[in-house]
Amino acid sequence: MSQQAKILIVDDDQLISEALTELLRTFGYDCGFILHPKVFFPRLSDEAFDLILLDINLPEIDGVTLLRQVKQHETFQKIPIIMLTGAQDDELVATCLQDGATDFINKPIRTPILKARIATALAAKATTDELEVRVKERTADLIASRKKLEDTNRQLENSYQDLQNAQAQLIQSSKLASLGEMATGIAHELNQPLFTIRMSANNLIKAIEKNISHNPIPSLQKVIRQVDRASQIINHLRTFGRDTQHSAKSEEDLNRIIEDALSMLKEQLLKRNIEITMELSPTPLLIYCQPVQVEQVLVNLLTNARDALATQSIKKICLRSLRQDPWIIMELSDTGTGISPEIQEKIFDPFFTTKEVGIGTGLGLSISYGIIRDHQGKLEVESELGQGSCFRIYLPNENKNVTASTLGD
Ligand SMILES: Nc1ncnc2c1ncn2[C@@H]1O[C@H](COP(=O)(O)OP(=O)(O)OP(=O)(O)O)[C@@H](O)[C@H]1O
Ligand SMILES: [Mg+2]
Repeated sequence: MSQQAKILIVDDDQLISEALTELLRTFGYDCGFILHPKVFFPRLSDEAFDLILLDINLPEIDGVTLLRQVKQHETFQKIPIIMLTGAQDDELVATCLQDGATDFINKPIRTPILKARIATALAAKATTDELEVRVKERTADLIASRKKLEDTNRQLENSYQDLQNAQAQLIQSSKLASLGEMATGIAHELNQPLFTIRMSANNLIKAIEKNISHNPIPSLQKVIRQVDRASQIINHLRTFGRDTQHSAKSEEDLNRIIEDALSMLKEQLLKRNIEITMELSPTPLLIYCQPVQVEQVLVNLLTNARDALATQSIKKICLRSLRQDPWIIMELSDTGTGISPEIQEKIFDPFFTTKEVGIGTGLGLSISYGIIRDHQGKLEVESELGQGSCFRIYLPNENKNVTASTLGD
């Protein structure tokens, strides 16, 4: 202890108290004494003591009671107390040690024992004080680190939210880009019912003009069917173009989603002499999904297959769907250029493209991968250079709780 330690003697015998005070001063301690327990707490409140020597036999309030009161006191409980005891006080000494006394010294007091026990008690207190300071510092450090961690966490959460929003915007932009690209095919799809309506109306007019007795109902029914077909296409386009960022998932038939996606691209595939084979499961394949997003994935895969077939002499795309518990699987294989193993490692990376600048953004597969992952599924590729590629989508079979880890991810 670098500062002079301060000791309080509590003993009703004035001669002993004075002699002890003198002795302790010769040991180098700052020392004071009180004769009556009544002034004990006021004195502790006035001065800070490092150690108390407390006589066990005191008038009015005995030393054991005082000891207990100190040990329960919020401010003073940590001051070490050495009990001054008579020869016959063994039981009481044991009680005092149990109640928190640091040590005891028998009367008559022998100087070397007194000196050694005071030094030991003060050294132990110094160690405890130092430990407490260190614990306090460490606790403060920990609190600061925790706060820092919480701040970092919050920042991460915000960044994650920003990322989610950016991803959703990306999906939307890419969808609108696909719509733009598909515009010609869609126009053709719409033209077909319009053409049939026109033909039917013309035939009706001609029949009326020529006064031919003709049952108009089948022709009008045909018109209605074509109007329905046209509005179906328009509705589908409207749904596909809508921002689905906040739409809920629902139970859908994968076969229907495949047909919807194909209907938007069929025309441009056929125009490029691409043969399309469908091997869809004969029964509905229910998945829990955002249908427009899954459709977006299929549009991306079909567009990639279309591009991979551009230079090939055999141009075939085969679409398959099947149930393989716990998964619903969709396979899209093409007889395109195929993908080398080195390139296969990169195709799901954002902005990776082998297409010319301005033709491919390199986002189709990374967006598709993200969508399928958000549906607790998995998107895989198998491909051989020069032979073609097969992209396989795994989605949980109705059951929302299946995770990609079941697949050994
Ligand atoms: N069916 C496929 N056959 C051969 N290569 C393919 C096939 N699908 C994808 N790829 C390769 O993967 C790359 C990345 O595909 P991705 O769809 O992510 O981007 P992209 O088609 O180049 O551009 P976009 O953003 O317009 O889709 C393609 O550039 C191509 O090299
Ligand atoms: Mg693409």
